[in-house]
Parts: sequence; C-alpha cells; structure tokens
Amino acid sequence: MSQRDVTETTESQIAVHWQEEDYYYPSPKFIGQANLTDPAVFDRFKLDNFPDCYVEYAEMLSWYKYWDEVLDTSDAPCFKWFKGGKLNASYNCIDRHLAENKNKTAIHFVPEPEEERIDHITYHELYVRVNEFAALLRNKAKLKRGDRVTIHMPMSAELPITMLACARLGVIHSVVFGGFPASACADRIVDSQSRVLITMDAYHRSGKLLDHKPHADEAVKLSEEQGQTVDTVLVWQRYPGKYSSDKPMKDGRDITVNEEIAKYYGERIEPERMLAEEPLFLMYTSGTTGKPKGCQHSTGGYLAYVTGTSKYIQDIQPKDVYWCMADIGWITGHSYIVYGPLSLCASSVIYEGVPTFPDAGRSWRIAQNLDVSIFHTAPTAIRALRKVGPDEPAKYNYHFKHMTTVGEPIEPEVWKWYESAVGKGEAIIVDTWWQTETGGFLCSTVPGISPMKPGSAGPGVPGIHPVIFDDEGNEIKEAGIAGNICIRNPWPGMFQTIWGDRDRFVKTYFERYCKDPKSTDWRDWPYLTGDAAMKAEDEYYRILGRIDDVINVSGHRLGTKEIESAALVADEVAEAAVVPVAHDIKGTEPDLYVSLKPGFEPSEDIAQKVSQAVIDQIGKIAKPRRVWLVPDMPKTRSGKIMRRVLGAISNKGDVGNVMTLANPEVVDTIKTMVEKE
Ligand code: WTA
Repeated sequence: MSQRDVTETTESQIAVHWQEEDYYYPSPKFIGQANLTDPAVFDRFKLDNFPDCYVEYAEMLSWYKYWDEVLDTSDAPCFKWFKGGKLNASYNCIDRHLAENKNKTAIHFVPEPEEERIDHITYHELYVRVNEFAALLRNKAKLKRGDRVTIHMPMSAELPITMLACARLGVIHSVVFGGFPASACADRIVDSQSRVLITMDAYHRSGKLLDHKPHADEAVKLSEEQGQTVDTVLVWQRYPGKYSSDKPMKDGRDITVNEEIAKYYGERIEPERMLAEEPLFLMYTSGTTGKPKGCQHSTGGYLAYVTGTSKYIQDIQPKDVYWCMADIGWITGHSYIVYGPLSLCASSVIYEGVPTFPDAGRSWRIAQNLDVSIFHTAPTAIRALRKVGPDEPAKYNYHFKHMTTVGEPIEPEVWKWYESAVGKGEAIIVDTWWQTETGGFLCSTVPGISPMKPGSAGPGVPGIHPVIFDDEGNEIKEAGIAGNICIRNPWPGMFQTIWGDRDRFVKTYFERYCKDPKSTDWRDWPYLTGDAAMKAEDEYYRILGRIDDVINVSGHRLGTKEIESAALVADEVAEAAVVPVAHDIKGTEPDLYVSLKPGFEPSEDIAQKVSQAVIDQIGKIAKPRRVWLVPDMPKTRSGKIMRRVLGAISNKGDVGNVMTLANPEVVDTIKTMVEKE
C-alpha cells in the first residue's frame, strides 16, 4: 500500500503533516529514582525469549498456585496466559498490602464541589468496604463466580470498591461509562446477560448535581424489552443517608446500598481462587458495525500486564501519588486508575468532576493539595486546559516527575506546552498508544531509558513487537511509509475474545493477516490493531489514526455506524453519513450528513431532531457539530456512500477527482452549502 492509499482510508490525518521532532531526554533526577533504567530489559523481552519473558510480570503478583504453562496456544487466537495458575485480583490490589501498608492511602476521592472534604481511603478501609460490599453482593444480590454484573456509575470511590468486590467473588464486571445514556447501558446489560445493575443516585458535574437514577430505570425497561430481566438494582447514595434522585426507589427491585450494607458490617469474604484464564471483566467498545464489542479480559494475564506496565512505564512507586484523569468507565481507568496502581500499592486519585471546574486552576490545585507526583491524561484534556489557562500551572506549587498522554495522537505543539507548562520542564512524558482490546500499553518510550519525541508514541514497550503490513500482507520495513500496524506476538494483557462472539473476534482482529486459520502457532496470528501508523528511522512509531470506521472524539471511540443508525431513528431521515472533522480541543468531532425521505423539506427543526436522536442514543459525546441536510449523498456507482468526499468537504480539504461517482454534481451543492456557513 502506498502512503497515498493509506491517507485516503485513514480518518485522523493530523499526524501525517507533522515533522520529525528533536528528542527530549529524561533528567538525571528522574533516572536516579526510576524503577527501570537498565536497557537489558529489551534483551530479556526480545522475541527469542517469548513467552517466558512475561514471567517477570506474573511474579509481581501473589499467586495461590503457580501456572502450569506460561502460554497455551492450543485454541489460537484465544490465548491462555499463565494457564492453571490461581489468583485473585482483589487480593492482589488490597489484602497483600495490609501487612506493611494498611494505613497508607489507597484512594483519594476528590469531590467536584471544592468545599467538600477529600475522602482519603486507606488500604485497610478499602479492605473493609470491599469485603462488606462483597458480602452484600453474594448474600443479597445472589451473585456468584462467573456471573456478569453491569455497573453504571460516576467517578466515585464506590466505583472501584464495587469492581474489587466483584473481583473478590469472581463476578465479571462490565462497567458502562457513567455519561452514557440508558440505551447504551441496556445494550450492554442484554449482551452480557446481567440480572444485576449497580448505580448511584447522583453526581456532580460542571457545578450541577446530576440525577443519575432515571438512567437505571430506563435501562432496566429497555433491557426487559430486549428480553433481559434485571431483578436487582443496587443504588449507592452520593451522600449516604440522603437520597438525591427525583425518581422513587422501586420496591422489591431497588436496594439502597449504604443502608443494606449495615447488615454486613464486619463480614470478611475469602477471595475466590480464580484461574488465571477466568475473565475478570468485560469492557465494551465501538467497532465497525453497530453492536459494541464486549472485550473479555482475563484475571491473571491482564493483572500481570497492567501491574508490569504500571511499574515500568508509569514508574509507579509506593511513595507516589498518582492521578489519572481518565474516567474509570474507560479501559484507561480500569488499567491505570484501579488495577495497575492498586496492585503496586500506590495512592490513586479519583476526581469526580470536570478538570476546569470551577476555574482553569482546579486541576493544578488538586495536584498541589495532594502533592501528586504522576499525572496521566489525554490530549483532549491537555488542549482544553491549555486553552482556558495556558499560564495557570505556574501559579501552583506542585511538581510532577512523570506525565502520560493517551487516547489519540498529540500534536507536537500541545506536547511541548504539556512538557514546559504542566510539567514545568521537570517531568518526563510517555505517549502511550494502546486500546480497549489490548488491556495495557503497546507503544511508549520506557521513561528511565529512552528519549521522548513529541508526536511519536515510541517503540513497542518491552515484549511488544509491532510490525507494519501493507494491504497485501507484505511487511513494510522502510521508515516513513504508512501501513496497518499489527503486533507480531500475543501478550498477557490482550483480551481473550469478544464476549459470546468468537467468530467476530477472529474476523475483526486476525483474519486479515492470518496465513493459516488452523494454526496453533502464535507466529501465525498477528494482531490487527485497526490503526494506521508509520515507523521512523529510530523505530519510533507514529500513530496516524483508525483504518476502520471509528471516529475518535476527545479520545473516545465512536463507531460511525452507531451514530448513523442513531440518526436514522428520526422518521424523516433516509440516509445518514458521519465523518470526523478537526476540532481544536476534541481532536475530531462528528459532522453528520443526512438526506431526507421524499416528502420532507429540510428545516432547522429536523436538524435539531436528528441531533437530539444521536444524543439520546449514544450520549452527548457524540453530538454532531452540525447536521447537514443534503439533497443526496455522494455515491459510487455501486451505491456506496463516499464518506471520504464528505470528510474532505467538512475539513475544507481537496475532494479530489469525483467524476467517477454516480452523482458528481451533488458534491458541488454540498460544498457550497458547507462553505457558506
Ligand atoms: C487511539 C484507549 C495515537 C488509536 C487506550 C487506538 C492513540 C484507539 C493513542 C483506542 C496514542 C490511543 N496515540 N492514537 N497515544 N492511544 N489511540 O480503545 O486509534 O478507547 O486504536 O483505548 O485510540 O481507543 P480505546
């Protein structure tokens, strides 16, 4: 595949225009204290030592029983790591720290209202709360090992408590991002067959106390319509003792957790001895087709991988106060707010609200007040913070040793502001490229060893061996040529399958480059990430964006199909096509083109209705920049909507040669319409 072809199919183009940047070197002060400074790690993790190299990560955990086999490939590409080993994730994140560190803060919960006190939860306190809630889950909600439970909660200390209580019992949790609407929650309840939903009555966001309970009622109703009954809804109260929702609790179904839990005071639950290959959780993510995919993550492999990468790439040490600003409802929050940091006995900060509320200094006050040493966020947040207060960080007395960026490509300009203003020139930065599916980091520099390069994620992290293929499956060895980035080898953090849909798992991630579908040799199963990338001379990878129909808004994946089918809910709509358009904060945002059924005249009301339909179905995050009501979609002769042409119009780019289209004249009409705005 030539570079031209890739840029045509690639949706996020920002990176393509970037120049090679100069290196930035980690400071001697950082190196002096880092967990990992010996480049021999790359020898230990080279392919010749695969898969045994990963024992190094597994040994960071406490096991009831060691594994019989490091990697079982007999059911490739559903790989089993540390097969036969037994452990419990809740034990590893809590119990094992008690002897030495029971009085250390595990979680600092920072409420959005600044006048409310920060809740500092020690490891012992976490132990108590997780055990009592686990008792409630077992005795009252009747949950047992292997059951799935859907969690639709805001950022709160109760969210990791809920997850860890599930893990203690071997119950598979499926956390749905709190900002998602009821319909998204219902889809996940149905797909995972959950009969228990765990929620919270309300939470603070941008200065308002949002009523969250109505989403639970609606989600249960929608699930029921799809044939999945939820018999128990567990409701945490944002203010224990006070119910903050307008919606009544439903008798016989809804249970107020903080009242009910009194019955379990003092209860201690022996952690289930889980097989390493038993699932720990599901995390749903958008794919090319409408239905979200439930990525199934294992207990042993996943926990080993997030612990190892938290130690080596995040450089987490017991003395650190670690703040990852992501939401726990995304994979970043699972791996790098909850499981990785707690497994390493760090103090992890959970912030309820918006980073710029009530003013541009809020994040830096939190950093100052808690003396945060490691900071982790996404380019979209960095851009927003830079926009509202470029000089704010200097006003606060905090010092980061380490900063992370994740979720989308970061422009070198923004990277440099992050480095100089937020990091005060003292912090190292890791640009971590990975996915919901991968459980943990794929590419990043190792902070105590390799220099940083703005705009490049870096080489594969230890044990990850990326390769770029062209469309025919030939390896692109030259630097500077874009192609489809794959990973040659499996790794412990990788998801095991798509929940209930092994065929889709194989098809989506492996079929394209697997030469022998019967093979049980891992070498035959390169993992297709779905991203386009290119490699520089120094083996640093630059991620260019998705090759599939996924739009990245503020670092969150939205399927084009999901947005389009939401638009079609409006009766007037005949066809819908969505394209990403560059946005200075969000990276990209969706621009929606809609053609109407015969008999309908374009009007502001219809545009409004379509926009609202998208918000209702998917959430505010997917709100289109504009809904363009067009006379027709530009189409190929075979009837395929040419999103590429619409994308060029939205982004004021070159539409290229459109003469081969079935209806080239419509391109000019649409162009004039958009340019007029
Ligand atoms: C993109 C988030 C460039 C990429 C952890 C990937 C990135 C998708 C980076 C996964 C990065 C993530 N640089 N692009 N550092 N990190 N991406 O599943 O397109 O929400 O495939 O996981 O985000 O998004 P997901």
